[in-house]
Amino acid sequence: MIVLTGATGGVGRAVATALAERGAHLVLTARDGEALEAVATMVRERGGRAVAHPCDLRDQQAVAELAERILAEDGVPEAVLNLAGHCVHRDLEATFGRPHDLVRLTGTNLLGPAALILALLAPMCAAGRGRIVAVTSASTRIPAPGWAAYGASKAGLDSWLRAIRPQAEAQGVGVAIVELPLVATSMATPTYGSSPRGALEPSQAAARVLRALDSRRTLVSPPWSRLGAVLSQAAPALTARAAGAGSRVAQRLSRRETGSGSGSLR
Ligand SMILES: NC(=O)c1ccc[n+]([C@@H]2O[C@H](COP(=O)([O-])OP(=O)(O)OC[C@H]3O[C@@H](n4cnc5c(N)ncnc54)[C@H](OP(=O)(O)O)[C@@H]3O)[C@@H](O)[C@H]2O)c1
Repeated sequence: MIVLTGATGGVGRAVATALAERGAHLVLTARDGEALEAVATMVRERGGRAVAHPCDLRDQQAVAELAERILAEDGVPEAVLNLAGHCVHRDLEATFGRPHDLVRLTGTNLLGPAALILALLAPMCAAGRGRIVAVTSASTRIPAPGWAAYGASKAGLDSWLRAIRPQAEAQGVGVAIVELPLVATSMATPTYGSSPRGALEPSQAAARVLRALDSRRTLVSPPWSRLGAVLSQAAPALTARAAGAGSRVAQRLSRRETGSGSGSLR
């Protein structure tokens, strides 16, 4: 059985589709119960098994109850795929007076996923097998203007997973991080429009998640992201300015094509 968070998202649905075709048994979670049921139905129609357990990852009590429900009703997972995420792009001045951006983003991207993983990891370690796969972003290791809260929340998850990995692996549970570049999903639309240039299709992003699930790799990441991480350590200010400029150019191009604006939190 595989737990999939963010199952209703662009990449999540693509991962659920690919796993359904393998006949996988999936526990799907996200906030929107109706959308989740629709994904579960799609999985069953394609030959997989699926149950839908709605949960808001920002609610720690709800996350604890989700973990209890999974262990009681569905058993100990073979894998946990954390794809849930929320994103906001805001320049510094637009973030003044908005400390809640950080609270919401860390709740969805770090604290909720970490609490769920922790609760499921204990029985997985006791069973001596399993795999944790979490999706972060290529922006995690190349901090850039506009992405401060999102990058910080994903970097927190990245750092936490890297630190628990050796001890989890010693107990038989592998930990992999997938750093995705831009993907053409609803997450990217507010900032880059609906068909951003150079973006991966959701099925291509899903293939990277499955590569992390199926192999013993600890990091699936574009080569430019790894290079950016090195440059970011060697010349932090210059790299942040260059990354910010690149992001602004991509946004200008997409705005010219689609007339879209900046991201927002709900
Ligand atoms: N798209 C990109 O360009 C891009 C680039 C790099 C990394 N990523 C990462 O890739 C992953 C998948 O992104 P995507 O593009 O598929 O995004 P998406 O289409 O916006 O999907 C996001 C998923 O997360 C769920 N979610 C959001 N807030 C939640 C909350 N508080 N509690 C529980 N679930 C929540 C959403 O469902 P509900 O709204 O129903 O809760 C949805 O299933 C994310 O972790 C994202 O950060 C995306």
